[in-house]
Amino acid sequence: MAAANIAPAEGRLGVLLPGLGAVSTTLIAGVELIRKGLAKPIGSLTQLGTIRLGKRTDNRTPLVRDFVPLARIDDLVFGAWDIFPDTCYQSARKAGVVDPTQLEHVRPELEAVAPWPAAFDPAFVKRLDGPHVKRGPNKLALAEQIMADIEVFRQRTGVRRAVMIWCGSTESFLRAEDVHANLADFEAGLRANHPAIAPSMLYAYAALQLGIPFANGAPNLTVDIPALVGLANARGVPICGKDFKTGQTLMKTIIAPGLKARMLGLTGWFSTNILGNRDGEVLDEPTSFRTKEESKLSVLDVILRGDLHPELYGDYVHRVSIHYYPPRGDNKEGWDNIDVFGWLGYPMQIKLNFLCRDSILAAPLALDLALFLDLAQRAGMHGVQEWLSFYFKSPQTAPGLYPEHDLFIQLMKLKNTLRHLRGEELITHLGLEYYD
Ligand SMILES: NC(=O)c1ccc[n+]([C@@H]2O[C@H](COP(=O)([O-])OP(=O)(O)OC[C@H]3O[C@@H](n4cnc5c(N)ncnc54)[C@H](O)[C@@H]3O)[C@@H](O)[C@H]2O)c1
Repeated sequence: MAAANIAPAEGRLGVLLPGLGAVSTTLIAGVELIRKGLAKPIGSLTQLGTIRLGKRTDNRTPLVRDFVPLARIDDLVFGAWDIFPDTCYQSARKAGVVDPTQLEHVRPELEAVAPWPAAFDPAFVKRLDGPHVKRGPNKLALAEQIMADIEVFRQRTGVRRAVMIWCGSTESFLRAEDVHANLADFEAGLRANHPAIAPSMLYAYAALQLGIPFANGAPNLTVDIPALVGLANARGVPICGKDFKTGQTLMKTIIAPGLKARMLGLTGWFSTNILGNRDGEVLDEPTSFRTKEESKLSVLDVILRGDLHPELYGDYVHRVSIHYYPPRGDNKEGWDNIDVFGWLGYPMQIKLNFLCRDSILAAPLALDLALFLDLAQRAGMHGVQEWLSFYFKSPQTAPGLYPEHDLFIQLMKLKNTLRHLRGEELITHLGLEYYD
């Protein structure tokens, strides 16, 4: 198999983050601490993961980052937007994820990241309002201001390439409609201030116009509309989304494939969370929660396929709720009660209590996405990058294609894509040759 032609990762890589809240500041602080040798990139497949090549007897298992030419952690430069003017240091202190003593080690680096004013519309995030926002006659003017910020950033930092990852708040639920159908209608909508064009779409539009890959860490529609998928393909830019797969949904996509593998039935899966950070506050509002709920609910149906296994999964109840509970801050606690049944229909229960740290789980995903999107672009890949489904609760796919939610299928897809890029044999796990 021929290897893809991948341009080298020369020079610095800009990582542009709309939203400088808990996830972004945890990402930036982590990267700065890792650079100084004060922390390790736990949770990051690009930094710690390995990939098996060839036969099991070949003993070839390089690190992912030695196998494909990724940008180095030392080469990342951060830029961000937020509706509050706090620097990354101030925002990290408020988010309360990384310990203040640890933050002091990288304080100057974090103070140097001051956000640009945001393109914001309180209609899309009803629980928040902030003073640090762009003004303009219409949405197109706001998108142009975002592009101008990026150009200034490019000149100031000298970055050769950039990627953008939406780490802003979850926006209100939207369905794709006519204004999202193609680029001409979308641009007319920008000029006419169409109410169904969300702020996150302005960032995505600005990025794609400048040839910058875009990932969506939240469940908003954003780049999952024909107008912006078309723009990404026309400009040769990779995109992916939606909604970082952390916490409870990560656990769900680990456990559900196991139950299904053993043909154990399901009568119900009840999931509830308490969360006390700003994200929890935003999600406490019904229109933002609706967006999250759609994203969280979809995973079981696709993994279990009740249509193929009606006797096991034809009639289960799936409930998900999030409660805003300030004392917990970013330390989310999730409870799952899973009602399963086995041989002869005998019922059993699984109780799961995950005391996680939301942004500690999300930050390495944002890092990997930045590095893999940049790789994809240098390898000439464009449009929807389904191989990055591994990172998302609601993976974006080609129209009409159901997304893969099983974490292990997603991992195989990701690693086989890397093997494919490097001209290595794909691994099928058939293994008959060992017994010839
Ligand atoms: N932490 C996780 O595990 C996780 C998992 C999946 C998805 N997410 C999503 O990632 C996003 C970020 O999460 P977080 O915990 O950092 O939330 P957060 O509330 O701490 O940070 C979001 C930031 O975005 C800012 N913002 C809102 N609208 C903006 C706009 N239009 N332009 C620029 N900035 C804007 C807010 O002021 C806030 O500072 C959320 O949408 C969340 O749902 C997080």
